[in-house]
Amino acid sequence: MTIALPDRGLPSPKQVERPPNAGRLELVGRVVAVRPPRRGATGYAARARSVSEGGPVISVTILIGGQWGDEGKGKVIDLLAGSVDMVVRSQGGDNAGHTVVVDGQTFKFRLIPSGILSPTTTCVIGHGMVVNPKSFLAELDELHAHGVNTDNLVISDRAHMVMPYHPVFDRLGEQQRGDDRLGTTHRGIGPAYEDKVRRVGFRVGDLTKPVFLEKKLRFVLRLKNESLTRLYDHEPFDERAILDEYLEYAERLGPRIRDIYPIIQGALREDRRILCEGAQGAMLDLDLGTYPYVTSSAPTAGGALTGSGIPPSKVTRTIGVFKAYTTRVGYGPFPTELEGALGELIREVGSEFGTVTGRARRVGWFDAAVARYSVNTNGIDSMAITKVDVLDQIETVRIATGYLSKGEHWDHPMSNISHLKHAEPVYEEMPGWLTSTRDCRRFEDLPAACQAYVERLGELAGASVDVVSVGPDREHTLVRRSMV
Ligand code: IMP
Repeated sequence: MTIALPDRGLPSPKQVERPPNAGRLELVGRVVAVRPPRRGATGYAARARSVSEGGPVISVTILIGGQWGDEGKGKVIDLLAGSVDMVVRSQGGDNAGHTVVVDGQTFKFRLIPSGILSPTTTCVIGHGMVVNPKSFLAELDELHAHGVNTDNLVISDRAHMVMPYHPVFDRLGEQQRGDDRLGTTHRGIGPAYEDKVRRVGFRVGDLTKPVFLEKKLRFVLRLKNESLTRLYDHEPFDERAILDEYLEYAERLGPRIRDIYPIIQGALREDRRILCEGAQGAMLDLDLGTYPYVTSSAPTAGGALTGSGIPPSKVTRTIGVFKAYTTRVGYGPFPTELEGALGELIREVGSEFGTVTGRARRVGWFDAAVARYSVNTNGIDSMAITKVDVLDQIETVRIATGYLSKGEHWDHPMSNISHLKHAEPVYEEMPGWLTSTRDCRRFEDLPAACQAYVERLGELAGASVDVVSVGPDREHTLVRRSMV
């Protein structure tokens, strides 16, 4: 029987409101790039027409990590940034650490989209992020010291801020959990998102309203100090000191703070190519990940959209970045974890130590059940497999295709993390290639066994492998098919 829904009637088509600067991306008071506005159809209709006319394809590409973070997303983003007009980050904060090596020079990004290295790319810090202004300015100074131009970088006024008490609550919360601690990065990310949900968070736009900032801080800090002193026996924070510190940040951040709605909408209307840069990985997602051993945001395709204000209908491609094996930092279930000498070898060869915390990462075999779950829940249609070279010395490689748990076969990670922790991976074995892949520049140059391994990962995950990386530098990236 069908359920009758009340007929509310459809709204009549309305004219889309055009902001005054339609047709150009105007940032920091100057025109970054100008293209005349296109008239007529938008969305799918325009996409279909522009393809048939051989014109530009409206293109929003989402790039996310498909595992537990640290998949090498920064490298792939750097590769793509030159062919897009805009890179937007939508979630997380300075808990992320993206490393990009260009001409032997290493850049470490935490908050700023790695696309900043491409001088013509507009970089947007979206409203789904939590920004620690102190870290942001330090990162900015470092980029300037390396001669990187950051004029095209803006921050959403809706993004939230990490306040000085957030890292303190993060650390104290972890201490309180004892053996059940999550292994957070202690950057205050969870407490900042908690405050956002509790509606006592500070948004970047608050920096432009000093009177409001002061009034709100008085109210919020009373709550925070009460928790700090009563629950944790910790000394309280001083309101004046925080206010002075944040008003100083306001001076430096001010020119970059923007309502990003017209910027994003303008770019969509002008058929600009937009890349949504994910941080962390799908298995660290609050809903889809190994809760509670997750981060406090949505590092998924869905999160990329809510954190930027881009509608799902505009997405043309979703790229998932996966390591050729698996790593995770912090605690939580990890069915394919390798604890012996082999794990140690992979950790050493792959330099698996955290960019943000320096912690040794846990290491394991590629988990195709995780990869398939990420592909299916995010609509990943293109995969990048990184760090293939790390497996060069291994005689036999393994891939988990599913798990056995309480006599049942699972083809995806179950929600019960205690069951997942004790699940027995079902492995497929393949011969290793025992040859260095570092000098390979095309997929066809890879040893046959390596090609077979990479193809099998894509087959089991259910998406095409378009990029393979065999080293840290740009030249170590083998592109089979263009991703944007
Ligand atoms: P938080 O994001 O600092 O709250 O940490 C929660 C969990 O997410 C911990 O297990 C962290 O190690 C993990 N995590 C956070 N950011 C990253 C990242 O960029 N890469 C890998 N793991 C991360």
